[in-house]
Amino acid sequence: MAEEGRKGQNSVVQEIGRKFRLSISVVAFVIITLFAVIVRYVLAPAPAIQDLLPDVSIKVIIGICLFLSLVGLYYSVSISKQVLRIVKDYGNRIERILGITSDLREEMYGDILLEKIMEYALAITNSQAGSILLADSEVLVFKIVKGEKAEQLVGTTVEKGKGISGWVAQTGKAVRITDASRHERFNPAIDSMTGFDTKSVLCVPLKTKSGVIGVLELLNKEGGYAYRERDEEVITYLAEQAAISIIKTKFVEDQKNYEIHLTEMLLEAIDFHIPEKRGHSKRVARYSNIIARGINMPEDEKKRLYFASLLHDVGFLKIHSDEAFRKEEFMRHPSVGYEMIKPINFYEDIALFILHHHERYDGYGYPSKLQGEGIPLEARIIAIAEAFDAMVSTTSYRVPVSFQEAVEELKRKAGTQFDQELVEIFVSNIEPQHITA
Ligand SMILES: [Fe+2]
Repeated sequence: MAEEGRKGQNSVVQEIGRKFRLSISVVAFVIITLFAVIVRYVLAPAPAIQDLLPDVSIKVIIGICLFLSLVGLYYSVSISKQVLRIVKDYGNRIERILGITSDLREEMYGDILLEKIMEYALAITNSQAGSILLADSEVLVFKIVKGEKAEQLVGTTVEKGKGISGWVAQTGKAVRITDASRHERFNPAIDSMTGFDTKSVLCVPLKTKSGVIGVLELLNKEGGYAYRERDEEVITYLAEQAAISIIKTKFVEDQKNYEIHLTEMLLEAIDFHIPEKRGHSKRVARYSNIIARGINMPEDEKKRLYFASLLHDVGFLKIHSDEAFRKEEFMRHPSVGYEMIKPINFYEDIALFILHHHERYDGYGYPSKLQGEGIPLEARIIAIAEAFDAMVSTTSYRVPVSFQEAVEELKRKAGTQFDQELVEIFVSNIEPQHITA
């Protein structure tokens, strides 16, 4: 990454260097000529030196000097303007790339991220078509393909080492081709499949510290132009940032996958361990969500509440099923659940809600005897949802009561066992049809 980054910077620095060298040459030529005139006519040097200098009249010499000075001035001004333009262009490019980089870093969804990378790459280089291929063991899979009739390529594969993209993936080096049909590595089979006529190609690796994870390929720069070195530099930088973002979204997606599957496994284990509570966790999650919607809870907090509701009784897994409903053992489940969940990083935020879901609003609950709003909001919500399900559920270990009786019971205990405001929101939104086994 650093090597290409320096390379990108160098091409601009080199161009500025070239302009300055030209400017210095013009100025140096004028100075040397002036020096020669001074030596010839002012300092009256030794005859031997005078002989070496051309015998031209002073008027001609002054005329030449004036002309050269004007030419030198013109070139200096012109070169300075060009340098300023190069620096300005470079600054604009850096600014644009920084904006793109921050947009890519903020993207959490892998599919949308790839779409964005593709769109930015096409726009920056004015390309007609392009694709992103990601490595999967020994092949590259077309994940995003843009261009005429390109959609059919999505999901197809290219062997590493084969064709231009395969070679870029294998070597980790960018490739710029003016006429693909004359290039030895060009594989015409893909054009035959899509009907696309590939001309110019810019293909760069998507690299991270651990290796090449794919390639970004751009085809046919608009206007029939060839891709320039600057296109390669900017796309190489974009590809480096893109690769980091791809790895990050993959990590986030893996985390989500673990979270969902681990939660499912734990739910099944709870249902298996205590059949009397079968389905309880999912129903509690549903009832909690009714309150969450009623108080306009933000989406991320709703999601947190959802997982806390699903896992609020996870502590029962470490309590012998025969003793689960014995008071002393039953009262241990919030603390045991907390200890189980706390070390798992993606559950860390919900551990406290599990710990406190049996606290009472009046401070007579357990395990910490918290009171009022000292009890986390999510725990106060779960307490209402859990009590309601325990009352109405037909699979409950207690004899179920009617919907109306359960609502009345919640109202009776509002302000003592439960948060009054939350009970009011729940009872005004819950309907008999919300109750399912
Ligand atoms: Fe509980």
